Amino acid sequence: MSTDKVSVHGSWASRWVFILAATGSAVGLGSIWKFPYMVGVYGGGAFVLVFLACIALIGIPVMMAETLIGRRARQSPANALKVLALEAGHSSKWSWGAFAGMITALLILSFYSVVGGWSLEYIIDVGKGDFQAVTPDGVGAFFGELIADPWRLVAWHTLFMLLSAITIAKGVNAGLERSLRILMPLLFVLIVILLGYSLTTGHFMEGVHFMFDFTPEKLLDGLLPAMGHAFFSLSVGVGSIMIYGAYMTKEASISATVVGVALLDTFVSLLAGLALFPIVFAAGLNPSEGPGLMFVTLPYAFGNVAFGTVMGVVFFILVAVAAWSSAISLLEPMVAYLVERTKVRRGWVTFWLSFICWFVGLGTVFSFNIWKQAKFFVNEGGAFHLYQWGATAGLDFFGVIDFFTSRIMLPLGGLCFVIFAGWVMGREAVRDELSVRSPVLFALTFFLMRYVAPIGILIVFAAQLWK
Ligand code: TRP
Repeated sequence: MSTDKVSVHGSWASRWVFILAATGSAVGLGSIWKFPYMVGVYGGGAFVLVFLACIALIGIPVMMAETLIGRRARQSPANALKVLALEAGHSSKWSWGAFAGMITALLILSFYSVVGGWSLEYIIDVGKGDFQAVTPDGVGAFFGELIADPWRLVAWHTLFMLLSAITIAKGVNAGLERSLRILMPLLFVLIVILLGYSLTTGHFMEGVHFMFDFTPEKLLDGLLPAMGHAFFSLSVGVGSIMIYGAYMTKEASISATVVGVALLDTFVSLLAGLALFPIVFAAGLNPSEGPGLMFVTLPYAFGNVAFGTVMGVVFFILVAVAAWSSAISLLEPMVAYLVERTKVRRGWVTFWLSFICWFVGLGTVFSFNIWKQAKFFVNEGGAFHLYQWGATAGLDFFGVIDFFTSRIMLPLGGLCFVIFAGWVMGREAVRDELSVRSPVLFALTFFLMRYVAPIGILIVFAAQLWK
């Protein structure tokens, strides 16, 4: 019986630990760092609206599909799809989709660790009082100097990767619960305090309008980026949530839990945006600043309020913890897979995988300094170049990895997982795992997984191609 499988990697002590782990995975740099800067770059309200629609119609069904596939198979993503496909009389090649996902997770980790490193550096800088009474230009210059220094970035990137790898080597269960139970709620409290500060800036409504007003013609502009970010924010499309589902106890209700985690994650993103943008406008900073947005906005706020130093230190510690609990969920799927396949010790597998991610991450580090001029996919003046040194258009190395993972691989991974749950596993297996009591709610959920989410993903891809 498929429902009697046991995970060789252990399981969560209770439903509560799955919620913590999944929330820890979802809430991270995606909500606090990436969401606000993307809202800024893609012009505000239209992006937010599409993002919310994608979370509800696509992200949540994909998240349910991942969790239920994981829990039914109790194995790493690639093996999970393989056994379940064989059980349902389908081709074991489905596992390739999950395999691609696990590689995507490692690519994401490569740059995630670099940015996680920035938050470590800021713990020290805020603590030293570097931002006291700082000017808007001052914070910008500070960030500019940091990212111009490859060695400092490499050092922090190395430390961040080590912290994540040590946790994974010990097994995700150990330590995760203890740290997250206190720190996640605290992060939430600090964001609310920041929001309180934003309310006093006199520019709060400007922030609200920026985040929620939109003109319909803008909806198409950020369509694919917003969908990609919905996947990124919920940690779906690569098997992170699937592997956590594999450690979930049978009693827990997947549907209720998943919706809870997704709502919490979305709520944190919106709060982070609402806290940040009023400060951006009050300080006269540029909302479309890009990846530096959070790192110039918040130190400015902390530098100009009472108890700013203490609050700033605590805040960046919490951001680093949130990033750490997300990073481990990026590493775990491939580690679990290799442990299952090769019987090599968990510690060794973790060491080598994190070393590879670290190495690829150097490309992201250098994108901000010595390789700043290296541009890929340059489309300038009607001519297209795959690579050009010194072009003004095009993507840098970080841009390429980010584009390839968030806009292409995450949606494709999600497509693979919902189609798998909706069409390969079949209605009865899904009903058995989801344990939705109301038949109407189940029918709706299954309909979202079987039709709405896959068609939605395809429509967004198509709209992007024919735009
Ligand atoms: N969701 C995390 C964040 O918002 C990042 C993350 C963890 C992730 N696991 C993932 C993104 C899997 C995509 C896929 O910071």
